[in-house]
Amino acid sequence: MKDFVDFSLKEYNTFGIDVRCSRFVEYESLDELLALLPEVRSAERVVHIGGGSNLLFTADFEGMVLHSGIRDVETIASEGDDVLVRAGAGVVWDDFVSRCVEQGLYGLENLSLIPGEVGASAVQNIGAYGSEAGDFIESVETIDIATGQVLTLRGDECQYAYRSSIFKTSLRGQRIITHVTYRLSRLFRPQLSYAALRSEVERRGLLENLSAADVRRIVVEVRREKLPEPSEVGSAGSFFMNPVVERAVFERIAAQYPDAPHYDLPDGSVKVPAGWLIQQCGWRGRNLGRAGVWPKQALVLVNLGGATGQDMVELCQRVQHDVLERFGIQLKPEVIFV
Ligand code: EPU
Repeated sequence: MKDFVDFSLKEYNTFGIDVRCSRFVEYESLDELLALLPEVRSAERVVHIGGGSNLLFTADFEGMVLHSGIRDVETIASEGDDVLVRAGAGVVWDDFVSRCVEQGLYGLENLSLIPGEVGASAVQNIGAYGSEAGDFIESVETIDIATGQVLTLRGDECQYAYRSSIFKTSLRGQRIITHVTYRLSRLFRPQLSYAALRSEVERRGLLENLSAADVRRIVVEVRREKLPEPSEVGSAGSFFMNPVVERAVFERIAAQYPDAPHYDLPDGSVKVPAGWLIQQCGWRGRNLGRAGVWPKQALVLVNLGGATGQDMVELCQRVQHDVLERFGIQLKPEVIFV
């Protein structure tokens, strides 16, 4: 177990913001976590982090920061072509995806190179290129902080929705995820519903004999092209969620911008890319001091070097203000402010 007081979180948030916490604990097993629970219950403030890739620390954290060091991965069952793989919450997400693809276990390849860890994949329902983690989650093992009980939820009990789950809503702050079991397949079924991915596959002439390793390679390349390298530029990936608006709202936008990108949703509403809205407001590639908007993808706010959490918040608010003024749409951060 790692246990530090007055600890810098710079290496534990992908924005690279240098804030401190009163105590930082990384437990390495279920038993260590259970032994820690009384202190977790009595701490004034607690935040459980994963890879810190979806968090913005706005000030020093007067409290306890928890991190999972549970990193075992095992195949627990085979059912026909399906294989159930159970992974510890602290496993680095992309290591997990890479390992599954190499072992011929398919489903997660579109989610390659997403920063973060297995536990957070189940909280955040990470998604990209037409796939979402929740589509493959068989079950989530949790500890109830109040009672110390081990409680397992089936995937269909986790209320998965766009970047959301029961762990972000009604169970927020009540559970700690220890393991996630994924239902993968030995049969590779390409998920090419996302137009940009499909056209990249076609452009490379791979549509016929496509393999999961090809998909993984293409997704990695496309992401590297558009998104900042986390080791070089601090960011949290998409800062905002793509807003879902009523059709009438979108029609007003389309009247002015006939080429506005959008996705029609089954219930008649329309999802509009926040990156596009932000770009229309002139923010792409601009900055406010040390906080900037990434030139290749306006949905990503970056730390240009030495930014504080407050610098990022100010930029966030300015961008929100301009998008609201021009389009009447309130952008909601995907990033969680701590
Ligand atoms: N666009 C612009 N300007 C920009 C950015 C985007 O015009 O600066 C337009 C693009 O041309 C395209 C559309 O917006 O027509 C969508 O852009 P993109 O394909 O890059 O995807 P996104 O909707 O901006 C979402 C996810 C990403 C995920 C990609 C690919 C959210 C909040 N973000 O971005 O997730 O990688 O789709 O599936 O849903 C993340 O969560 O950290 C993340 C990177």
